[in-house]
Amino acid sequence: MIKLFAKLLGVCCLLFSSFVLAQRGTPSPLPEGPGKELVQNLCSTCHSTATISRAAGFSSMQQWRHLFSTMIELPDAQANTIANYLAENYPEDESRRPNLIAGDVNIEITEWTVPTLGQRSRDPIEAPDGSIWWTGMWASLTGRLDPETGVMEEYRLPPTSRPHTIVPDEEGNIWYTGNSNATIGKLDPKTGLVTEFKTEARDPHSASFHPNGNLYFTAQGAAVLGRLNPLTGDLKEIDTEPRPYGIQVGPDGTVWVAYNGTNKIGAMHPDSMEVKYYEVPDTRTRVRRLGLDSQGMVWFVNSTMGKIGRLDPETGQIKQWDSPSGPNSHPYALAVIDDVIWYNESGMRPDALVRFNPKSESFQSWAIPSGAGIIRNVWVTEAGNLLIHQSSSNQVGLVTID
Ligand code: HEC
Repeated sequence: MIKLFAKLLGVCCLLFSSFVLAQRGTPSPLPEGPGKELVQNLCSTCHSTATISRAAGFSSMQQWRHLFSTMIELPDAQANTIANYLAENYPEDESRRPNLIAGDVNIEITEWTVPTLGQRSRDPIEAPDGSIWWTGMWASLTGRLDPETGVMEEYRLPPTSRPHTIVPDEEGNIWYTGNSNATIGKLDPKTGLVTEFKTEARDPHSASFHPNGNLYFTAQGAAVLGRLNPLTGDLKEIDTEPRPYGIQVGPDGTVWVAYNGTNKIGAMHPDSMEVKYYEVPDTRTRVRRLGLDSQGMVWFVNSTMGKIGRLDPETGQIKQWDSPSGPNSHPYALAVIDDVIWYNESGMRPDALVRFNPKSESFQSWAIPSGAGIIRNVWVTEAGNLLIHQSSSNQVGLVTID
């Protein structure tokens, strides 16, 4: 049994690392020096070493140690050799510092480091009982955090599921997109039992519940949009434009879809699943995520162009604003809270949290304290605060807005 599990794990790691390599190209060779072998052997099991050379780097070995201690536990001597090697060869790229904008809004950011190292914590949500949940994609788990006490508990999901996103239902069940085993799954936290619904699309990605009770989801690689009726298990999947990504339900029930493979935004009818497409100017545009305001305006990040934008669905008119840190700031996750826009500049280190006030068309921004990682998805709590995370440094966070 143990052998079989080890074998399966081996196959899955192999598949995964070839996936990473295929996705990210051949890693640039590591520079010579003491520590090179250790980095080669210990730091390429979850991601390729290109993840290291592409990062913004740190000039101090302490900062390097702090970052990778959230990924892997190593004996002191090894950790120091690696940290010295990295600080020497991969110092801070200062051009990646965000342009932070001062302002008069006060926020407080609380972050928690989640238990399993290197799990790629992401996509936090608030459950009906006020607990915070996240998904640990690379460890195929989901976790529950009590924000009052800081107590965390992790729940194992099927080992090949690699849950990308989670959403809660009204009973407090946690639904996840099984990005690697082509499923939508449901965890009942009371019993720990998991129910899986098999999808045709190979990689369910982001998901959103609709007031009609259905769960709508995107499958990025498969270029599919899906609808699951959680009560009957009825599943409908349709083909769509390349790389559908973020998905949100508008105030009138329209299901809005962001595209990461084309310069489009989709409006899907919840019943017919017919999609109307809007084009954002410039074919280089890629939209990872979007959100709706109370007027039904669609706010989106233009990740590739370093902008945020607003689409008026009535007229099709689009207006865009440059993000404070410029064209390489890579705005990523976005939420609308009381008609104010919150998003992050994921291309910068530290990852910057940005607030945009549509009335005054003004920005304010803050550095995320943990410093390294990427916010890939955010969630608005009942109290109107923002849940964030950092996928590299294993953080889940709460932004309390004054
Ligand atoms: C158990 C898995 C695991 C191991 C082992 C691991 N990492 Fe990571 N690492 C991660 C995850 C998860 C991310 C985030 C990837 C993402 O968001 O796509 C990451 C991202 C990174 C980043 C990018 C940071 C940024 O700017 O966002 C660097 C640099 C990095 N790792 C360095 C290392 C080093 C150095 C080692 C070896 C000492 C190591 N990693 C070993 C899981 C791991």
